[in-house]
Amino acid sequence: MNEFWRVKSFNYDSIVVMEEMCHMSLKGKDIISIRDLTRNEIEHIMEVAVTMEPLMKTGSKILGGKILACLFFEPSTRTRLSFESAMDRLGGSCIGISEPRTSSIEKGESLEDTIRVVENYADAIVLRHPSEEAIRLAAECASIPVINGGSGAEEHPTQTILDLYTMKREMGKIDGLNIALLGDLKYGRTVHSLACALAHYYVNLYLVSPEPLAMPRQIIKEISGRIHVIETCDIEEIIPKVNILYVTRIQKERFTNLNDYERVKGAYRLTLQAIINAKKDMIIMHPLPRIDEISPEIDDSPHARYFKEVWYGVAARMALLSLIFGTIE
Ligand code: CP
Repeated sequence: MNEFWRVKSFNYDSIVVMEEMCHMSLKGKDIISIRDLTRNEIEHIMEVAVTMEPLMKTGSKILGGKILACLFFEPSTRTRLSFESAMDRLGGSCIGISEPRTSSIEKGESLEDTIRVVENYADAIVLRHPSEEAIRLAAECASIPVINGGSGAEEHPTQTILDLYTMKREMGKIDGLNIALLGDLKYGRTVHSLACALAHYYVNLYLVSPEPLAMPRQIIKEISGRIHVIETCDIEEIIPKVNILYVTRIQKERFTNLNDYERVKGAYRLTLQAIINAKKDMIIMHPLPRIDEISPEIDDSPHARYFKEVWYGVAARMALLSLIFGTIE
């Protein structure tokens, strides 16, 4: 628990929380980029997430009457359903668009008009959109908080919150760890947000990818003055060194030329043999969906954490929503 925050008392139906010397409030805040959050704010969300874990079983009414609009203009399983699950578990409710063809977008309605309409129906919006600009446009139009549920190949800040929360819960800390991001670092929005967030911590960050899928230079430039960054194509070399191996799929849908995709397809695949020299307590994470980059034989190994990560994601999103709605300060 950090020095700014202490839970004074707690029960399952009405959480009574008191902050002490707390300088931050996320009430009403848009979450567009992970860069919108300081380390203290991220730590604060994770501390609240710990208090949310028991509520995943018991349920609560702390978001009773609140409505979240989930507007998804790209496919999703985890992000949309975990936001919906988080609202439901806290007594709130969700409305949304998960298939744009069934909305008036199909008739030509603009995103701006859609947002201006939806803000009358809900208290906050989660938006996933293939355009990187759409999330900023939505936040400018909306008078209610807008949360980025994935903006093109650019960012996925709430995934990063749950990724950090998984690291903290599983390893007990983030500072001091060797962390590798492996896979499509060019188009993977989760790794863009995660790399920026990890720059708040004292970590060694290994960026491991086929050369054509390297991390964008502007992100390297942004983080390399703050943490030790090592770029490599050599998976075998980094496996024994790392505490956390964060794997991503190749983002086929972002390639403009399918021949380029065919050239890198299957370029890496984790098997039990490939991780034989890993530290005993090394954990493997993945934002999912997985295609073929982690062999299913790893699922039952003590290293796998990617399905547990999904579980932590609900608690993390319950915490984020409670803070944005101002039910918890
Ligand atoms: N991790 C993640 O964003 O998964 P979905 O695309 O299924 O939401």
